[in-house]
This record gives sequence, C-alpha cells and structure tokens, in this order.
Amino acid sequence: MKKITIAVDGFSSCGKSTMAKGLAHEIGYIYIDSGAMYRAVTYYCLQNGLFDDKVLDAAGLKKQLDNINISFRLNEETALPETYLNGVNVEQEIRNMDVSSRVSIVSAIPEVRHAMVALQQEMGRQKGIVMDGRDIGTVVFPDAELKIFVTADPKIRAERRLLELRSKGDEQTTFEEVLQNLKERDHLDQTRAESPLKQADDALVLDNSHLTRDEQMQWLVEQYNKVVDSL
Ligand code: DC
Repeated sequence: MKKITIAVDGFSSCGKSTMAKGLAHEIGYIYIDSGAMYRAVTYYCLQNGLFDDKVLDAAGLKKQLDNINISFRLNEETALPETYLNGVNVEQEIRNMDVSSRVSIVSAIPEVRHAMVALQQEMGRQKGIVMDGRDIGTVVFPDAELKIFVTADPKIRAERRLLELRSKGDEQTTFEEVLQNLKERDHLDQTRAESPLKQADDALVLDNSHLTRDEQMQWLVEQYNKVVDSL
C-alpha cells in the first residue's frame, strides 16, 4: 500500500493530537507531535538559564541551537512516542505550566523554527506519518497528500479544556479564564510574523464542535481512504 503524508493543523485545544494519534494508530502510521519539539526547546532554555522569568536570551539560544538534540522514542507499554531532549525523556516535563506559558516566545524565533522544520522534514522523508502542529500543511509538508485543518467553537474548546483541568484536580481556574487564554493564544498563533497559523488552500476543514470522537475518526479514515484510493 502506498504511504502518504498527513498534516493536521489547527487551533489550540481542538483535540488535534488526540485525533492525529488515533488516526496514526488506526492506519499503522508514525505519529509526530511537532508542538512537543518547541516545548522541548523551551524546556532546554529553562534548564540552561536562558530565561529570566518570561524574558528569553534569544541570542544565547541561537548560539546553543546546535547543542539541542530532540528525538522521539516509542514507549513499549503505551505504544506512543515520547519526547527526548539530549537523550533524556522529558515527555512529562514539557507539559508543565512553566513550559506552556513560555513556548510561544520560543516558537516565534525564526532560527528555532528553521531548525525544527528541517528536523520534521527529515522525520517525514519516508512518508507514512501523521504530524500535527500549526504550520505542517503550509510550511513543513506543503506537498502532503492529506491536509486537515481543525477548528471548533472557542466556547466548546474552553469547556473541553476546563473538564481536562478539573480531571487533573484544578478546581480554581474559571471558564472565563480558560476562554480568555484560548482567545489570546489563537490571536498569537495567527498573527506571529514567522509561519503563522493559517489554513492551507488545499486543506480539508474539520469543525469538530459537535462531533463525537468516533464520528471524527470515521470521517478521518474516510478521507484517508479516498486519497489512497485515488493514487
Ligand atoms: O500543540 P502544542 O500546544 O503542544 O504546541 C505548543 C506551542 O508550540 C504552541 O504555542 C504553538 C507552537 N507550535 C508551533 O508554533 N508550530 C508547530 N508546528 C507546533 C506548535
């Protein structure tokens, strides 16, 4: 069976990674979380004193870019890829708030993006990959055979995010705070100078506001089959 490249882009908290992971599992493809790579660079900056609170020593980071090695290795138990920074598993650490609140600063630096895009393109060279992010269909794999752009009503995304926070024991954060944060991130993602989030002309739009996970998976597999059948 001919292998293709699948790009999944879209707004924060749309369930992109759950969807991309599920699709990759269903069709036996490799899943790559490109956001994890920007998060790993951010974690490196925190570990190496490149942040003074929220102020980044961008010149220092550019000098050290060659010292940052990011890779993914499969966790045998979960069968999911985990993120490694210079040989150390950082899958948990890169999801914490210290990283989340700084990653947009790091991911806006052109040199960081160029290095990550080169690595992502290398990872996808043999196809058979589902990669999710913000610029996968536009910059990383402009020739991807299947591009999905995911969106959902901000209020529904905020509700989903709030449920996730509550399930992790966060009883403090309010719906309004979550909604405000989402809107800010949407704005930053769409307006940054370097590789802003935008729908590729040939992307299929998936608004999953009112879809169950099963309905969404069925739709994704249908799109995948259509592309593969047409090759
Ligand atoms: O998908 P995520 O929330 O884990 O992504 C973390 C951050 O990285 C987010 O602020 C957007 C940025 N990002 C990016 O600029 N380009 C990508 N391809 C993926 C993520």
